[in-house]
Amino acid sequence: MGGATLAPRRPWRGRRVLLGVSGGIAAYKVVQLARDLTLLGAEVDVVLTRAAQAFVGAVTFEALTGRPVRSEILAPGWALDHIRLAREADVVCVAPATADLLARAAAGVASDLLSAILLATTAPVLLCPAMNDRMYANPATQANLARLRERRGYRLVGPAVGPLAYGEGDGPGRLEDTGVILAHIGRALEGETALSGRRVVVTAGPTREPLDPVRFISNRSSGRMGFEIAAAAWRRGAEVTLVAGPTALPAPTGPALVRVETAADMESAVRAALPDADALVMAAAVADFRPAQRAPEKIKKERTPAALALERAPDVLRETRDARPAGLVVVGFALETEDVRANARRKLNEKDLDLVVVNDATVPGAGFEVETNQVTILDRTGREEDLPLMSKQDVAEAILDRLAPLLARR
Ligand SMILES: Cc1cc2nc3c(=O)[nH]c(=O)nc-3n(C[C@H](O)[C@H](O)[C@H](O)COP(=O)(O)O)c2cc1C
Repeated sequence: MGGATLAPRRPWRGRRVLLGVSGGIAAYKVVQLARDLTLLGAEVDVVLTRAAQAFVGAVTFEALTGRPVRSEILAPGWALDHIRLAREADVVCVAPATADLLARAAAGVASDLLSAILLATTAPVLLCPAMNDRMYANPATQANLARLRERRGYRLVGPAVGPLAYGEGDGPGRLEDTGVILAHIGRALEGETALSGRRVVVTAGPTREPLDPVRFISNRSSGRMGFEIAAAAWRRGAEVTLVAGPTALPAPTGPALVRVETAADMESAVRAALPDADALVMAAAVADFRPAQRAPEKIKKERTPAALALERAPDVLRETRDARPAGLVVVGFALETEDVRANARRKLNEKDLDLVVVNDATVPGAGFEVETNQVTILDRTGREEDLPLMSKQDVAEAILDRLAPLLARR
C-alpha cells in the first residue's frame, strides 16, 4: 500500500465503504483496492454494474471482502437493497467510473443498482473516472464531470495521465493509483473536523547549503515527521502546503508540494504561503549555518580549503514573522541534546510560538532517520506533556490533536 503517508489514521473497523465498480478495463485494479480496504478493517460492499461483470467476477470480490456482491436492482429477495446499501454506507466510491456511469449519474438516471444508490445516498461520493483519453476529453463527459463536481458535490479522484489500454498513448484517462484512491477514502471517512477547510503550511526535511555547484552542507533529517503531519492534516480535511527540502520520501497524497533546497528558498516559500494560512508547522530541520561563500565552479582537489568560513543561515521562523496573518497558530520543533526543556521554552517565547515539539536527540528511537519519535509538547500556558515513544504517524496525530483546539478559538 505504498509509503506510510498513505496509511489511514486508524484501522477502519466498523466503517462501511460502498465500492461501486462500473464496466471499464481498469476494473481489475479495483480488486486490490477492495483487498486493501478489507485489510484496514472496513466492511466493503461491492456493487458491480452488468458491464463490470464482463471484466471482473463477483466471486473474486466476495472472496476478498467476505460479503455478498450485488449487481441487479430488480432481484427477488433484495428488493430494497439500493436504499439499504445507500443508507448504510459511510462513503461511496465508484472506481472505475465509466463515461456511461458518469452520464447516468449526471442525468439522475436510476435504471441500475449502482446509479440508484448514487441517487439515494447522503454519504460522501468519490468518483474515479477511467476511460480512453478521447472519451474523457469529449465535451459531453467534461460537462457531466463538471455537473457532478459543482452541482452534486461529488469528489473526483483522477483520472491520472499515463499509458492507456489499446496503445492509445499517454493521456488523461487512467484510473488514479489505488493507493491515492485509498487516501481519498480515508479523508472522506474522517468527515468534518476542526481542520476541515483550514489552510495549513508544513515544512519538512533538511535544507542543503551549497559550497560549490556539487557540494553542500546538510543534516540527517529524513523529512518523515513533516510528511506525516502534512498527510494527517490533509486526511483531516485541511488544504495543506508542504514545503519540503531534499528528501527521498515519496510525496504524500493530497498536500500541494513545494520543493526547496536552501534555508533561503524555504524562507521565501513559507513567506509566499503564509498570507492565507491558519497554521504553520515548522518540522523542517533548517540549516543554522551555511558556507559564507558559494564557489561558482567546483573547488579543485588541489585547492582544498584549510577551513570553511560559515555564516548564519536565515532563521525561517524569525524572518517570516512579519508575514504571519493575525491569529496564525504556529508550531515549532526543537531538537536539543542538552537543557532540553529550558531551551525549548526559550524558543517558544522568543519566536512567539503556540506549541513547541521537543525531540531529545539522545533518546534511542527519537529524532532523525528513524520511524519512531518520542517528544515533549510545550504550550504557552506552561504545560509540558511527555508523550511515549510512538510512530511518527501517531506523533503527527498527537500534534494535530493539540493544534486543532487552538484553531477553533480563532
Ligand atoms: C473491452 C472494453 C473496455 C472498455 N473500457 C472502458 C473504460 O475504460 N471506460 C469507459 O468509460 N468505458 C469502457 N468501455 C465501455 C463500457 O463498458 C460501456 O460504456 C458500458 O455501457 C459501461 O456500462 P456501465 O457504466 O454500466 O458499467 C469498455 C468496453 C469494452 C468492450
